[in-house]
Amino acid sequence: MSLNGNVALVTGASRGIGAATARALAARGAAVAVNYFGSEAAAQSVVADIRAAGGKAIAVKGDARDRAQVEAMAAEVKAQLGPIGILVLNASIGFPMKGFLDYPWDAFEAKVLGEMGAAFHGCRAVVPQMLERKSGSIVAITSGLARDPGWGFCAHSAAKAALEGLVRALAFELGPMGIRVNAVAPGLTLTDATANLPEKHKQAAAEHTPLRRNGQAEDVAEAVAGLLQTGFVTGATLPVNGGAHTF
Ligand SMILES: NC(=O)c1ccc[n+]([C@@H]2O[C@H](COP(=O)([O-])OP(=O)(O)OC[C@H]3O[C@@H](n4cnc5c(N)ncnc54)[C@H](OP(=O)(O)O)[C@@H]3O)[C@@H](O)[C@H]2O)c1
Repeated sequence: MSLNGNVALVTGASRGIGAATARALAARGAAVAVNYFGSEAAAQSVVADIRAAGGKAIAVKGDARDRAQVEAMAAEVKAQLGPIGILVLNASIGFPMKGFLDYPWDAFEAKVLGEMGAAFHGCRAVVPQMLERKSGSIVAITSGLARDPGWGFCAHSAAKAALEGLVRALAFELGPMGIRVNAVAPGLTLTDATANLPEKHKQAAAEHTPLRRNGQAEDVAEAVAGLLQTGFVTGATLPVNGGAHTF
């Protein structure tokens, strides 16, 4: 199956998993809006790569947590590429790594509200465009940490678990309108976000993974593209972790 004729908005697509996803969707025929927050040059380079490969892409600036900016972005994409049929909620909402007893409430609140805001505003801005065609597909990038905790990640685990709850609620509500909503939950994936993890931590994770390596952004992107190309899967969370925590 191809994504020909579809318009996709990928949030946080200037780097990492989002950039790989933008490329993967464009390679399957979608016209892709590459959202960025601070890294304009990186976003333009993703767009240039897609166009050089014969695909269609534009870069759109916006803070995924901010309703007005997300609405403006969705309107701009519709005007330039047509109604959005695919939304990938990927923007990485930063957080400090700290134990629960040291976690500042402000940081916890900012992470959870940021993650929820990005999903809520993204869906509210884009679903009306999907309803115009009575079809659409949304994929939220969550995390294996939504289920399997790790030290320092309490805010991230809570935020991603809430996101998975929202995915199931939206799948239930929007399914009758032809819109599917799923989650992809990566394990440790080598991107800028994990670049500062000690090498021995990455090696240990690989050793405890049945497929014996760390994930790459492209592994997650392929899973997102695969889910988008199904027709009867909704409300699901697909782990992309080489089998870690599965057995
Ligand atoms: N890497 C992992 O091990 C891992 C594991 C599980 C889940 N995830 C999830 O996968 C997603 C992508 O993570 P990643 O590792 O690819 O991160 P990354 O390489 O650090 O890239 C982060 C991306 O998010 C964008 N971004 C940050 N804040 C934003 C905002 N407020 N609005 C719009 N875009 C924003 C950045 O844009 P600019 O550079 O333009 O600011 C950048 O494109 C995140 O949701 C993350 O939680 C990652």
